[in-house]
Amino acid sequence: MHSAEHVVVTAALPETVLDSLRELGPLWTPQTPAPLSAAQLREAVAGARAIVSTLNDRITGEVADAAGDGLRIVANVAVGFDNVDVAALRSRGTVVTNTPGVLTDATADLTFGLLLAVTRRLGEGERLLRSRTPWEFDLGFMLGSGLQGKTLGIVGLGQIGRAVAHRARAFGMDVVYSGRRQADERVERELQARHLPLPELLRTADVVSLHCPLTPQTRHLVDAAALAAMKPSAYLVNTTRGPVVDEAALADALERGEIAGAGLDVFENEPEVHPRLLGLDTVALAPHLGSATVETRTAMAQLAADNVRAVLRGGAPLTPVG
Ligand code: GLV
Repeated sequence: MHSAEHVVVTAALPETVLDSLRELGPLWTPQTPAPLSAAQLREAVAGARAIVSTLNDRITGEVADAAGDGLRIVANVAVGFDNVDVAALRSRGTVVTNTPGVLTDATADLTFGLLLAVTRRLGEGERLLRSRTPWEFDLGFMLGSGLQGKTLGIVGLGQIGRAVAHRARAFGMDVVYSGRRQADERVERELQARHLPLPELLRTADVVSLHCPLTPQTRHLVDAAALAAMKPSAYLVNTTRGPVVDEAALADALERGEIAGAGLDVFENEPEVHPRLLGLDTVALAPHLGSATVETRTAMAQLAADNVRAVLRGGAPLTPVG
Protein backbone atom coordinates (compact mmCIF):
# COMPACT_ATOMS: atom_id res chain seq x y z
CA MET A 1 0.00 0.00 0.00
CA HIS A 2 1.00 3.62 -0.03
CA SER A 3 0.62 6.68 2.09
CA ALA A 4 -2.11 9.21 1.40
CA GLU A 5 -1.31 12.66 -0.04
CA HIS A 6 1.19 11.03 -2.32
CA VAL A 7 2.05 11.72 -5.95
CA VAL A 8 1.20 8.86 -8.32
CA VAL A 9 3.32 8.29 -11.40
CA THR A 10 1.63 5.68 -13.60
CA ALA A 11 4.60 4.80 -15.84
CA ALA A 12 8.40 4.69 -15.79
CA LEU A 13 9.94 8.18 -15.93
CA PRO A 14 13.63 9.18 -15.96
CA GLU A 15 15.22 8.93 -12.49
CA THR A 16 16.14 12.62 -12.47
CA VAL A 17 12.48 13.49 -12.93
CA LEU A 18 11.37 11.03 -10.24
CA ASP A 19 13.92 12.61 -7.89
CA SER A 20 12.43 16.04 -8.48
CA LEU A 21 8.98 14.61 -7.64
CA ARG A 22 10.30 12.91 -4.49
CA GLU A 23 11.17 16.39 -3.16
CA LEU A 24 7.42 17.01 -2.98
CA GLY A 25 6.67 14.07 -0.69
CA PRO A 26 5.80 10.37 -0.97
CA LEU A 27 5.83 8.99 -4.50
CA TRP A 28 3.99 5.92 -5.84
CA THR A 29 5.49 4.27 -8.92
CA PRO A 30 4.41 1.04 -10.62
CA GLN A 31 6.33 -2.18 -10.06
CA THR A 32 6.07 -3.39 -13.67
CA PRO A 33 6.28 -1.67 -17.06
CA ALA A 34 2.78 -2.82 -18.17
CA PRO A 35 0.09 -0.12 -18.24
CA LEU A 36 -2.03 -0.09 -15.08
CA SER A 37 -5.47 -1.69 -15.26
CA ALA A 38 -8.42 0.53 -14.33
CA ALA A 39 -8.63 -1.24 -10.96
CA GLN A 40 -4.89 -0.85 -10.27
CA LEU A 41 -5.13 2.82 -11.17
CA ARG A 42 -8.07 3.42 -8.83
CA GLU A 43 -6.24 1.66 -6.03
CA ALA A 44 -2.97 3.52 -6.60
CA VAL A 45 -4.57 6.97 -6.61
CA ALA A 46 -6.58 6.62 -3.37
CA GLY A 47 -5.72 9.72 -1.35
CA ALA A 48 -3.31 11.12 -3.98
CA ARG A 49 -2.60 14.85 -4.41
CA ALA A 50 -1.30 14.48 -7.96
CA ILE A 51 -1.33 11.97 -10.81
CA VAL A 52 1.32 11.96 -13.53
CA SER A 53 -0.40 9.99 -16.31
CA THR A 54 0.27 8.80 -19.83
CA LEU A 55 -2.05 8.24 -22.75
CA ASN A 56 -2.44 4.61 -21.63
CA ASP A 57 -4.39 5.77 -18.57
CA ARG A 58 -8.06 6.69 -18.80
CA ILE A 59 -8.42 9.43 -16.22
CA THR A 60 -12.16 9.67 -15.63
CA GLY A 61 -14.37 11.22 -12.97
CA GLU A 62 -14.38 7.78 -11.37
CA VAL A 63 -10.60 7.85 -11.04
CA ALA A 64 -10.82 11.33 -9.54
CA ASP A 65 -13.43 10.08 -7.07
CA ALA A 66 -11.15 7.17 -6.17
CA ALA A 67 -8.40 9.73 -5.47
CA GLY A 68 -10.68 11.83 -3.31
CA ASP A 69 -10.99 15.53 -2.54
CA GLY A 70 -7.25 16.10 -2.20
CA LEU A 71 -6.51 15.55 -5.90
CA ARG A 72 -5.07 18.85 -7.11
CA ILE A 73 -3.57 18.02 -10.50
CA VAL A 74 -3.45 15.45 -13.29
CA ALA A 75 -0.29 16.05 -15.31
CA ASN A 76 -0.54 14.10 -18.56
CA VAL A 77 2.83 13.27 -20.14
CA ALA A 78 1.61 13.95 -23.68
CA VAL A 79 0.42 16.90 -25.68
CA GLY A 80 -2.84 15.05 -26.47
CA PHE A 81 -5.22 14.71 -23.54
CA ASP A 82 -8.16 12.82 -25.03
CA ASN A 83 -7.50 10.15 -22.36
CA VAL A 84 -8.46 12.64 -19.63
CA ASP A 85 -12.03 13.72 -18.88
CA VAL A 86 -11.07 17.36 -18.41
CA ALA A 87 -14.62 18.54 -17.63
CA ALA A 88 -15.09 15.88 -14.93
CA LEU A 89 -11.80 16.84 -13.31
CA ARG A 90 -12.41 20.56 -13.53
CA SER A 91 -15.80 20.15 -11.86
CA ARG A 92 -13.96 18.50 -8.95
CA GLY A 93 -11.47 21.38 -8.75
CA THR A 94 -8.59 19.40 -10.27
CA VAL A 95 -6.20 21.05 -12.74
CA VAL A 96 -5.19 19.15 -15.90
CA THR A 97 -1.92 19.86 -17.72
CA ASN A 98 -0.26 18.49 -20.87
CA THR A 99 3.19 18.85 -22.44
CA PRO A 100 2.98 21.12 -25.49
CA GLY A 101 6.02 22.58 -27.21
CA VAL A 102 8.71 20.18 -26.03
CA LEU A 103 7.66 17.44 -28.47
CA THR A 104 6.90 19.60 -31.50
CA ASP A 105 10.11 18.99 -33.45
CA ALA A 106 10.36 15.29 -32.62
CA THR A 107 6.80 14.70 -33.83
CA ALA A 108 7.27 16.80 -36.96
CA ASP A 109 10.49 14.88 -37.72
CA LEU A 110 8.71 11.54 -37.33
CA THR A 111 5.91 12.79 -39.58
CA PHE A 112 8.45 13.42 -42.30
CA GLY A 113 10.11 10.07 -41.59
CA LEU A 114 6.81 8.29 -42.26
CA LEU A 115 6.07 10.51 -45.23
CA LEU A 116 9.39 9.56 -46.80
CA ALA A 117 9.01 5.92 -45.78
CA VAL A 118 5.71 5.60 -47.61
CA THR A 119 6.45 7.75 -50.67
CA ARG A 120 9.92 6.22 -51.20
CA ARG A 121 8.86 2.67 -50.23
CA LEU A 122 11.53 2.33 -47.55
CA GLY A 123 9.72 -0.32 -45.48
CA GLU A 124 8.96 -2.34 -48.56
CA GLY A 125 12.60 -2.11 -49.67
CA GLU A 126 13.85 -3.18 -46.27
CA ARG A 127 11.46 -6.12 -46.18
CA LEU A 128 12.71 -7.17 -49.62
CA LEU A 129 16.33 -7.18 -48.46
CA ARG A 130 15.61 -8.91 -45.17
CA SER A 131 13.69 -11.64 -46.99
CA ARG A 132 16.91 -12.20 -48.99
CA THR A 133 15.00 -11.88 -52.25
CA PRO A 134 17.46 -11.49 -55.17
CA TRP A 135 17.43 -7.96 -56.60
CA GLU A 136 19.55 -5.68 -58.71
CA PHE A 137 19.66 -2.00 -59.52
CA ASP A 138 17.35 -1.21 -62.39
CA LEU A 139 16.12 2.16 -63.65
CA GLY A 140 12.53 1.12 -63.12
CA PHE A 141 13.02 -0.69 -59.82
CA MET A 142 10.81 0.23 -56.84
CA LEU A 143 10.01 3.72 -58.01
CA GLY A 144 8.32 5.93 -55.49
CA SER A 145 6.87 9.38 -55.62
CA GLY A 146 8.87 12.63 -55.28
CA LEU A 147 7.86 15.48 -53.01
CA GLN A 148 9.20 18.56 -54.79
CA GLY A 149 6.45 20.70 -56.24
CA LYS A 150 3.78 18.53 -54.60
CA THR A 151 1.17 19.90 -52.20
CA LEU A 152 1.09 19.00 -48.54
CA GLY A 153 -2.32 19.38 -46.90
CA ILE A 154 -2.03 19.92 -43.17
CA VAL A 155 -5.14 19.25 -41.11
CA GLY A 156 -4.72 21.29 -37.93
CA LEU A 157 -2.14 24.08 -38.04
CA GLY A 158 -1.13 24.03 -34.38
CA GLN A 159 2.47 23.91 -33.19
CA ILE A 160 3.15 20.50 -34.73
CA GLY A 161 1.30 21.32 -37.95
CA ARG A 162 3.41 24.48 -38.32
CA ALA A 163 6.64 22.56 -37.69
CA VAL A 164 5.61 20.07 -40.38
CA ALA A 165 4.86 22.99 -42.74
CA HIS A 166 8.39 24.35 -42.19
CA ARG A 167 9.87 20.98 -43.10
CA ALA A 168 7.61 20.73 -46.15
CA ARG A 169 8.84 24.09 -47.41
CA ALA A 170 12.43 22.86 -47.04
CA PHE A 171 11.48 19.84 -49.18
CA GLY A 172 10.13 22.15 -51.89
CA MET A 173 6.47 21.38 -51.25
CA ASP A 174 3.54 23.77 -51.42
CA VAL A 175 1.53 23.94 -48.22
CA VAL A 176 -2.20 24.23 -47.72
CA TYR A 177 -4.00 23.72 -44.44
CA SER A 178 -7.42 23.41 -42.91
CA GLY A 179 -8.51 23.90 -39.35
CA ARG A 180 -11.11 25.45 -37.14
CA ARG A 181 -9.55 28.87 -37.57
CA GLN A 182 -7.55 30.57 -40.26
CA ALA A 183 -4.04 31.33 -38.98
CA ASP A 184 -3.02 34.95 -38.81
CA GLU A 185 -1.50 36.54 -41.85
CA ARG A 186 2.02 36.60 -40.42
CA VAL A 187 1.97 32.80 -39.90
CA GLU A 188 0.50 32.20 -43.35
CA ARG A 189 3.17 34.42 -44.90
CA GLU A 190 6.03 32.81 -42.98
CA LEU A 191 4.91 29.29 -43.94
CA GLN A 192 3.61 30.33 -47.35
CA ALA A 193 0.57 28.30 -46.37
CA ARG A 194 -2.91 28.78 -47.80
CA HIS A 195 -6.10 28.04 -45.85
CA LEU A 196 -8.59 25.71 -47.56
CA PRO A 197 -11.84 24.17 -46.41
CA LEU A 198 -11.23 20.48 -45.64
CA PRO A 199 -13.13 19.09 -48.67
CA GLU A 200 -10.98 21.18 -50.99
CA LEU A 201 -7.78 20.25 -49.16
CA LEU A 202 -8.66 16.56 -49.53
CA ARG A 203 -9.31 17.01 -53.26
CA THR A 204 -6.09 18.87 -54.00
CA ALA A 205 -3.35 17.64 -51.63
CA ASP A 206 -0.75 15.08 -52.72
CA VAL A 207 -0.08 14.26 -49.08
CA VAL A 208 -2.64 14.81 -46.30
CA SER A 209 -1.04 14.98 -42.85
CA LEU A 210 -3.19 14.97 -39.71
CA HIS A 211 -2.27 17.22 -36.77
CA CYS A 212 -5.62 18.00 -35.16
CA PRO A 213 -6.36 16.75 -31.64
CA LEU A 214 -8.78 13.86 -31.13
CA THR A 215 -12.13 15.32 -30.05
CA PRO A 216 -15.74 14.24 -30.61
CA GLN A 217 -15.64 16.49 -33.71
CA THR A 218 -12.49 14.92 -35.21
CA ARG A 219 -13.26 11.24 -34.48
CA HIS A 220 -13.36 9.56 -37.92
CA LEU A 221 -12.77 12.92 -39.60
CA VAL A 222 -11.05 10.83 -42.27
CA ASP A 223 -13.83 8.40 -43.17
CA ALA A 224 -14.76 6.58 -46.38
CA ALA A 225 -16.10 9.78 -47.99
CA ALA A 226 -12.96 11.77 -47.12
CA LEU A 227 -10.73 9.04 -48.51
CA ALA A 228 -12.80 8.82 -51.69
CA ALA A 229 -12.35 12.59 -52.12
CA MET A 230 -8.54 12.25 -52.11
CA LYS A 231 -6.57 11.79 -55.34
CA PRO A 232 -5.73 8.17 -56.22
CA SER A 233 -2.06 9.29 -56.22
CA ALA A 234 -2.27 10.85 -52.73
CA TYR A 235 -0.88 9.67 -49.40
CA LEU A 236 -2.28 9.98 -45.89
CA VAL A 237 -0.01 10.46 -42.86
CA ASN A 238 -1.35 10.18 -39.32
CA THR A 239 0.83 11.08 -36.33
CA THR A 240 -1.95 12.47 -34.11
CA ARG A 241 -4.45 9.93 -32.75
CA GLY A 242 -5.68 6.75 -34.42
CA PRO A 243 -9.43 7.34 -34.10
CA VAL A 244 -9.18 10.48 -36.27
CA VAL A 245 -9.11 7.93 -39.12
CA ASP A 246 -11.68 5.20 -39.76
CA GLU A 247 -9.15 2.39 -40.06
CA ALA A 248 -11.47 -0.09 -41.78
CA ALA A 249 -12.35 2.57 -44.36
CA LEU A 250 -8.64 3.28 -44.83
CA ALA A 251 -7.91 -0.40 -45.45
CA ASP A 252 -10.78 -0.48 -48.02
CA ALA A 253 -9.47 2.66 -49.77
CA LEU A 254 -5.93 1.28 -49.95
CA GLU A 255 -7.07 -2.13 -51.18
CA ARG A 256 -9.17 -0.49 -53.91
CA GLY A 257 -6.38 1.91 -54.90
CA GLU A 258 -8.47 4.95 -53.97
CA ILE A 259 -5.33 6.46 -52.45
CA ALA A 260 -1.68 5.54 -53.03
CA GLY A 261 -0.50 4.85 -49.51
CA ALA A 262 -0.48 5.75 -45.82
CA GLY A 263 2.11 6.42 -43.13
CA LEU A 264 0.71 5.63 -39.70
CA ASP A 265 2.20 6.19 -36.24
CA VAL A 266 -1.10 5.83 -34.37
CA PHE A 267 -3.97 3.37 -34.50
CA GLU A 268 -7.64 3.26 -33.73
CA ASN A 269 -7.35 0.51 -31.11
CA GLU A 270 -3.76 0.79 -29.92
CA PRO A 271 -1.76 -1.33 -29.53
CA GLU A 272 -3.75 -3.33 -32.11
CA VAL A 273 -3.16 -2.55 -35.76
CA HIS A 274 -5.95 -3.32 -38.19
CA PRO A 275 -4.98 -6.73 -39.66
CA ARG A 276 -5.70 -5.66 -43.26
CA LEU A 277 -3.28 -2.71 -42.91
CA LEU A 278 -0.55 -5.10 -41.78
CA GLY A 279 -0.83 -6.96 -45.07
CA LEU A 280 -0.43 -3.91 -47.33
CA ASP A 281 2.91 -2.85 -48.80
CA THR A 282 1.49 0.62 -49.42
CA VAL A 283 1.44 1.33 -45.67
CA ALA A 284 4.43 2.47 -43.60
CA LEU A 285 3.93 1.75 -39.92
CA ALA A 286 5.49 2.93 -36.67
CA PRO A 287 4.45 1.98 -33.12
CA HIS A 288 3.46 5.45 -31.79
CA LEU A 289 6.99 6.89 -31.88
CA GLY A 290 6.14 10.55 -32.57
CA SER A 291 7.79 11.94 -29.45
CA ALA A 292 10.04 8.95 -28.80
CA THR A 293 13.50 10.46 -28.46
CA VAL A 294 15.46 10.38 -25.20
CA GLU A 295 15.67 14.17 -25.19
CA THR A 296 11.99 14.75 -25.89
CA ARG A 297 10.62 12.12 -23.50
CA THR A 298 12.87 13.52 -20.75
CA ALA A 299 11.63 17.05 -21.44
CA MET A 300 8.00 15.88 -21.45
CA ALA A 301 8.40 14.09 -18.12
CA GLN A 302 10.17 17.10 -16.61
CA LEU A 303 7.46 19.48 -17.80
CA ALA A 304 4.80 17.25 -16.22
CA ALA A 305 6.81 17.20 -12.97
CA ASP A 306 7.23 20.99 -13.10
CA ASN A 307 3.46 21.34 -13.44
CA VAL A 308 2.95 19.12 -10.38
CA ARG A 309 5.49 21.09 -8.39
CA ALA A 310 3.94 24.44 -9.34
CA VAL A 311 0.41 23.37 -8.40
CA LEU A 312 1.30 21.53 -5.18
CA ARG A 313 3.26 24.57 -4.06
CA GLY A 314 0.20 26.74 -4.58
CA GLY A 315 1.22 28.33 -7.88
CA ALA A 316 -0.30 28.32 -11.35
CA PRO A 317 0.29 25.35 -13.67
CA LEU A 318 2.74 26.04 -16.52
CA THR A 319 0.74 24.36 -19.26
CA PRO A 320 -2.92 23.94 -18.25
CA VAL A 321 -5.50 22.56 -20.67
CA GLY A 322 -9.15 23.42 -21.08
C1 GLV B 1 1.72 11.66 -27.88
O1 GLV B 1 1.05 11.02 -28.62
C2 GLV B 1 1.34 12.90 -27.31
O2 GLV B 1 0.17 13.31 -27.38
O3 GLV B 1 2.21 13.55 -26.72
